[in-house]
Amino acid sequence: MKLLRLLFIFLSVPLFAQQGGMWIPSLLEGMNETEMKNLGMKMSAKDIYDVNNASLKDAIPHFNGGCTSEVISDQGLLLTNHHCGYSQIQSHSTLENDYLADGFWAMSKKEELPNPGVTATFIVRIEDVTTKIMAGITDAMSEADKKAKIETNIAAVSQSSVKEAWQENRVRTFYEGNQYMLFVVETYKDIRLVGAPPSSIGKFGSDSDNWIWPRHTGDFSLFRIYADKNNRPAEYSEDNVPYTPKHFLPISLDGVAENDFTLVFGFPGTTDEYLPAVAIEQVINTLNPARIAIRDKALAVQDKYMRADPQIKIQYASKFASIANYWKKWRGETLGLKKSNAVGIKKQQESALTAQINKKGKQQEYGQLLPQFETYYTQREPYALAREYFLETALRNVELLRTAYQAYQLVQVYENRGEQSFEDRRDNMVDRMSSQYKNYSKKVDEEVFDALIAFYAEKVPAQFLPDSFKDMNVEALTKNVYGNSAFVSYNSFKTLMDGDAETVITNLKNDPGYQVVKDMADAYFEKVAPKYEELQLNISGLERDYMKALLELSPKDARIFPNANSTLRVTYGKVAGYSPADAVYYEPVTHLEGVIQKYVPGDYEFDVPQKLIDLYNAKDYGEYAEDGRMPVNFIGTNHTTGGNSGSPAIDAYGNLVGLNFDRVWEGTMSDYYYDPALSRNIMVDARYVLFIIDKYAGAKNLIEEMKLVHPKKGNKKSKKKK
Ligand code: ARG
Ligand code: GLU
Repeated sequence: MKLLRLLFIFLSVPLFAQQGGMWIPSLLEGMNETEMKNLGMKMSAKDIYDVNNASLKDAIPHFNGGCTSEVISDQGLLLTNHHCGYSQIQSHSTLENDYLADGFWAMSKKEELPNPGVTATFIVRIEDVTTKIMAGITDAMSEADKKAKIETNIAAVSQSSVKEAWQENRVRTFYEGNQYMLFVVETYKDIRLVGAPPSSIGKFGSDSDNWIWPRHTGDFSLFRIYADKNNRPAEYSEDNVPYTPKHFLPISLDGVAENDFTLVFGFPGTTDEYLPAVAIEQVINTLNPARIAIRDKALAVQDKYMRADPQIKIQYASKFASIANYWKKWRGETLGLKKSNAVGIKKQQESALTAQINKKGKQQEYGQLLPQFETYYTQREPYALAREYFLETALRNVELLRTAYQAYQLVQVYENRGEQSFEDRRDNMVDRMSSQYKNYSKKVDEEVFDALIAFYAEKVPAQFLPDSFKDMNVEALTKNVYGNSAFVSYNSFKTLMDGDAETVITNLKNDPGYQVVKDMADAYFEKVAPKYEELQLNISGLERDYMKALLELSPKDARIFPNANSTLRVTYGKVAGYSPADAVYYEPVTHLEGVIQKYVPGDYEFDVPQKLIDLYNAKDYGEYAEDGRMPVNFIGTNHTTGGNSGSPAIDAYGNLVGLNFDRVWEGTMSDYYYDPALSRNIMVDARYVLFIIDKYAGAKNLIEEMKLVHPKKGNKKSKKKK
């Protein structure tokens, strides 16, 4: 028994170590394909990405530049998260037709709602252009010269690479400047809202359950891509027709079981998996605590008013959620970095690399990398911290300062590009702000300002502060700003921004709110940014060389994947529970019972629609249940990050089984360090999505256009996509 267990532990170590990584879809053949097949995949790498034939990638557009979506019918029906479609759902909502509260379902194509500005971008082709981008780069060049030359080369390659007239070329770097890839993309611009569950399903559990497992959220919404009559991208027009995809995902009715293979295909935003230990220590000890402390203060104020005033609750729901989202993530991340001993593990990896450098006689080339990291990161720390305070205070959490900062940038546009650019951008800003001011509460913002400016003056070292912040009376400043600045209401803001550039700039300079942001920004750009950017440029150079060393000196089977950079990636793993603490084990699948268990009637986060309760009581699940129970969410070892929201979870055969929307609390440090024992992504079970559309909403019209399959039951082959 003991021996068996020992053997099991031994075997499970390398097996676990195989997990994690976000891979480039055009480069899966070889190691990734073998791993995926070992995990149970029945497709080939070419079924996932193929230049000449339809493949999975043709069903997966980037949704509005930030989320992922997937085509699930031959008529361009698009599935993404509820939180990805949130602002579109909100923008169509009124007090009488509150789609956020009640949901929205188009029962015919005529009822689908256009969303100007929303996009869906497909990847047509991926090509390695490293040699072209590196042409003319020599070791003797300074980092700044290298950077400039690379930018010129990127512009030339984007200009000259073959594409159709309606397509676009984008070059992105991988492995910190060791590899460059060209993406030919196609962006569709007529994206209509088709369906959304009420928030009590789509956002069930809200902030309390955010980043948490066990989870019970139906985080999905439906859109449709429209194209011109040649099936090409076009601006919104009544004459547009539903898009015919090169490929769409069939949906599996068979669900998942523990250990099933899953593949998550999407557009992860940013990760930093190869930071040296010194940088991770700064995240844990300096940067995350500062970010969290600033947001603690902003959230405390907003929460207080939201609880007291239903109007403010509506106005601040979305803003509060977005501030709280990363505030909570950073807390989980810090805990996870500590618990997984990320710093210790990085240090071990660094010693191993140093030994390898010495063994291979590469001291000349790589011997200084780690000591230099130490030097530059240590020098950068106070600047990075001051930068964080500036960004969080002036650009993110105080609304008045954020708006005034945009005016500050506008003044720079005038100085650099003249009157016409100024006017275009001003008009655009005035337009955009009208919807933001609808959700603005002066008294909430005033109190956030007061708290955050006091904190700023206290925490930012004197050498980085604007002179006006030294020995200042915050209370008097707050009174003056919120009593006299034009930024406190849309009308006075509009008046302030009215006239030619000279007039607007004169008026801005006399505005007390503008003066605060100008002082902060001037001080930042004079005392913090130049040094920060100089050190950052050196650090980027080191990161590139460090990555080169890792690629060159690591064992052949080391799985070195490129950091996320908002490009299309494949991550894969299996459905698996985890143990978050001693004696606790979390199962990988939740069910509708769990929704009912969490139900708090009338609650802001945990209310449940009566219709869903009725369906639960009647066990009216149609063909979507498994053994009489309705699955809701499941987790797996897929390595995901922000941007993977809305990504399809795909089964061994290429069918949709789930919809990615979050990660578990104990594993959110995976942006820096993926721990196979703790890092899990959270997905909505595709059957729950179908159940809500069919049984809850009665939108059979949508179910009918989908292709529902049984890959596990019956003849697997006939169901396998070809
Ligand atoms: N944590 C998920 C993601 O990063 C979901 C966020 C939306 N949900 C929420 N309750 N704020 O984006
Ligand atoms: N909810 C996240 C998003 O918007 C995905 C969760 C994560 O960060 O893993 O992309």
